[in-house]
Amino acid sequence: MDGIRTNMKPRVYVTRHLPEAAWSELTEVCDVQIWNEEFPPPYDVIAQQIKDKEGLICLLTDQIDANLMDYAPNLKVISQVAVGYDNIDVAAATERGIAIGNTPGVLTDATADFAFALLMAAARRIGEAIDYVRAGKWQTWGLTLLLGQEIQGAILGIIGMGRIGQAVAKRARGFDMQILYHNASRRPDLEEALGVEYRKFDELLQEADFVSLHVNLTAETRGLIDAHALELMKPTAVLINTARGPVVDPDALYWALQNGQIAAAALDVTDPEPLPPDHKLLNLRNLIVVPHIASATTTSRTLMAQMAVRNCVAGVQGKPLPFPVNSV
Ligand code: GLV
Repeated sequence: MDGIRTNMKPRVYVTRHLPEAAWSELTEVCDVQIWNEEFPPPYDVIAQQIKDKEGLICLLTDQIDANLMDYAPNLKVISQVAVGYDNIDVAAATERGIAIGNTPGVLTDATADFAFALLMAAARRIGEAIDYVRAGKWQTWGLTLLLGQEIQGAILGIIGMGRIGQAVAKRARGFDMQILYHNASRRPDLEEALGVEYRKFDELLQEADFVSLHVNLTAETRGLIDAHALELMKPTAVLINTARGPVVDPDALYWALQNGQIAAAALDVTDPEPLPPDHKLLNLRNLIVVPHIASATTTSRTLMAQMAVRNCVAGVQGKPLPFPVNSV
């Protein structure tokens, strides 16, 4: 009887626990196997598990390359529970006729809020201030204690003016910041609608008090903020990265922060990710690092999982994905 299926629902492998609302939607339609651990499944486990699957729901921690896809001759859809999909070889999937889906939109506001929270935390040295109090150093009110930077009137440089970059610009307007942007293509519509000004990459780095990154990780953006870029920034400037870790060269950032080339940085994403506890960056007083949580609100993460399930269900049924990355 080996190999004969009595349950003819499409088979799906899920690489991590999903919120209940998404899970029940998926299991109604699909025959699902799941890796229910806190840590990602090893590459070989995914390879073995997808051999007989039509659908794969994965996270940004799973490396989905051409070799892995070759284990799964029946795979119709790879559904990523994230907006970024640099962990998936899109060209390889397209060549094999495998649809890819992602979850844009529902995390835009949560991520923009968080980028702004990091901007403010770095500007006002909130991490240092918490450590100061916890260490028992708070003995009196001090006129020059933990002085930070003014946000009102400061110049914000947004690199990458997609959905999240635009949402950050809206928040910055509320704080009366001057907003510059750099984007692969100039966006006169946004200049009008959001009151943002275009700058060339180098010009933006030279002028901005705060630089916030909102680009996808691609061959062009890997190492975009390197030693040269950091050298162009003001010594008072603050760098915020909620995009992808490898957009910033970690060694160049370490040098810039340690030598006062820039004033501070706040990273939601790192390279490597996670950052090992003994990584040199974690010794810096002027750096905030948090564990890739910009979209981590209950609402956003639930909606992301539901979108991923809808992409997966459509894909295994041979229908167009509601939120497609490629066309197959
Ligand atoms: C999170 O980083 C995402 O890409 O959704």
